[in-house]
Amino acid sequence: MLFVKTQEPDAYARAAEVLHSGGLVAFPTETVYGLGADAENDAAVARIFAVKGRPSFNPLIVHVPSLEAAQRYGEFTPLAKALAKAFWPGPLTLVLRRTEGCPVSLLASAGLETVALRFPAHPEARALLDVFGRGIAAPSANRSGRISPTQATHVKQEYAGMVQTPDLLLDGASCTLGLESTIVDVTGEVPILLRPGSITRDMLKSLAPQVHDPVGTNIQAPGMLASHYAPDLPLRLDATEIWHGEALLAFGRHVPPAAVTLNLSPSGDLTEAAANLFAHLRALDRPGLRGIAAMPIPSQGLGQAINDRLRRAAAPRMD
Ligand code: TXA
Ligand code: MG
Repeated sequence: MLFVKTQEPDAYARAAEVLHSGGLVAFPTETVYGLGADAENDAAVARIFAVKGRPSFNPLIVHVPSLEAAQRYGEFTPLAKALAKAFWPGPLTLVLRRTEGCPVSLLASAGLETVALRFPAHPEARALLDVFGRGIAAPSANRSGRISPTQATHVKQEYAGMVQTPDLLLDGASCTLGLESTIVDVTGEVPILLRPGSITRDMLKSLAPQVHDPVGTNIQAPGMLASHYAPDLPLRLDATEIWHGEALLAFGRHVPPAAVTLNLSPSGDLTEAAANLFAHLRALDRPGLRGIAAMPIPSQGLGQAINDRLRRAAAPRMD
C-alpha cells in the first residue's frame, strides 16, 4: 500500500491514476475513511469486497463529484432533488432508482435496480472526486466486521500484515463526524430512513412531511434490507450437469455443454467471478429458458460472498 499525503503536489493525480487503472484508494470523507474504486468498473468494485473480506455483497455507496454527476446515475424525484439541494455536499446518502443505461457497476448495486449516491463535503474527498471526474464506490475502509476508520493511521493498522490491501492510502485530515452518513431511500413518495446519521430525522422532516422507518428490517443491518435480487427463472445450485432448457452459469475451465452458457471466470478467478455475477445472472434470466443451473463455486475468499448471494437468489420466493 502506498501512503500519499494530500499535501504532496501530485497526490490527487496519483490517486486518480490508481482508480483509473482499476486499483483501490482509501481516502478521507467527513464521516469515515472510505475504500474507493472506480464505480463504473466491475472488477475494481469486486476487489473492494475481496480486500474488506466481506462475506456477502452489500450494496455500496457511490460518491459523486457533483449533483450533475449524480443525475447520470440516479433518477431524481422532486423529493430527492429537494434533499440534495438542502444537504449536499454532506453526510447524506440518497438511494435512487438507477437511470436507464446507468454505467455504475451492478455489483456496486448488489444487483438491485437502485443506487446509493453521496456527494461528500470533505475538501480532500471532493478534490479526489474532481480530479477523477466520475463516481467512486466506497464502503467504510475497515475490514469486514471491524470499526470504521476515522484517521489515516487507523487504515494503516487495519491492513498491516494483510495480503490484500488498498493500493494507495490518501493520508489526509481526520474525519470530523466519525459517524457514517444518513441513508434515505427516496425511490417512493415518502422517504425511508435506512440508516440514521448526522442528518437527523428532524432535519429531513423540514423538507418531507413524513419520514418512514424500514418495515420489518433491522436497522443495524441495513445492507440486508433490499439485497434480495432474485432472477425470475428458478436457479439451481451446485449443478454438475444441465437439465433440459436450462442455461448454465459456469465457473472454471471444465464446463459441461449447454445451449446457453455464461462463464463467471473461465480461469477460476473468484474476483473476476464476483465482478461478473450480477450481470451474468441478469443476462441469463430471460424468456424461453426453463431455469438457470449454477456450477459449484469454491467457498474460499470471495467465493463465500458469491455463494451467499446465489443461495439467496435460489431461495423459495416469498411473493
Ligand atoms: O459515511 C458513509 O456513508 C461512508 C463513507 C465512506 O462515505 N460509507 C459507508 O459505506 O458507510 P458502507 O458500505 O459501510 O455502507 C453502505 C450501506 C450498505 O450497507 C447499505 O445499507 C446501504 O449503504 N446501501 C447502499 N446501496 C443501497 C441500495 N441500493 N439500497 C439500500 N441500501 C443501500
Ligand atoms: Mg461500514
